[in-house]
Amino acid sequence: MHLVNSTAGYGALTKLFHWLIALLILLQYTSANIMLRTPAEATTLGLGQDTYYNWHKSLGLVAFFVMLARLANRRIGELPPWAPTLTPLEQRIIHRTEQLLYGALLIMPLSGFLYVMAGNYGVRLFGLWDLPNPIGPAPLTSQIALWVHVACAMLLLLPLGTHLGLVLGHHFGMRDRLIHRMLPGRTTRL
Ligand code: HEM
Ligand code: HEM
Repeated sequence: MHLVNSTAGYGALTKLFHWLIALLILLQYTSANIMLRTPAEATTLGLGQDTYYNWHKSLGLVAFFVMLARLANRRIGELPPWAPTLTPLEQRIIHRTEQLLYGALLIMPLSGFLYVMAGNYGVRLFGLWDLPNPIGPAPLTSQIALWVHVACAMLLLLPLGTHLGLVLGHHFGMRDRLIHRMLPGRTTRL
């Protein structure tokens, strides 16, 4: 398998970043829902609210750096040709959806970071190190960043749902094995 994308298929790095981000997104939505529903003195699954906040912030920052690496990787090599089972309309939808996903997944960690730093809440990375605060208290900036973070979290579900609907519909509905294009050891040939 090639390391980077080529006309023969997605490269190993694209596949690695793709599934890593999918896992991180799942963890981010899960941790956010738990931390916002766990009262300060209570625990959920044996962990306190603080722990969920720390992990949400820490994994969110990891997601940011993975997204930067993913973006750089996408510019290397040549994108594989479209799957032959996709209609021109579906190709256009996928193209726009991917742009929205890339954009939203950069805005999410940036707005989260801005919110907690300008709000002076800080980040204790994986519960171990307090990151320096490069912004300092700025209540209005913090409130705007929070609004962007929450709104983007909801809006992101739209391209995500479209992406999953198209991929799962093709793979299981049309039985064209579309998911194989993103699996290790497979090429784009269906
Ligand atoms: C890809 C990265 C991220 C995703 C997908 C994500 C997702 C979410 C979601 C779904 C919520 C719940 C929003 C709501 O309905 O109220 C949330 C809240 C929150 N996120 Fe993130 N997040 C990410 C990164 C970060 C980062 C990097 C930080 C901070 C360094 C952060 C800090 C927070 C905080 C503090 C809240 C709670 C906001 C409140 O009090 O309402 N997030 N996030
Ligand atoms: C949850 C977060 C997810 C995000 C943010 C995401 C994002 C993307 C993006 C941006 C691409 C274009 C290739 C690239 O630039 O890397 C892509 C391709 C793909 N994704 Fe996802 N994806 C997610 C989840 C999933 C899941 C759960 C599946 C399987 C059920 C899936 C299946 C695929 C397939 C098969 C392709 C290749 C499509 C093709 O070119 O034929 N994705 N994804």
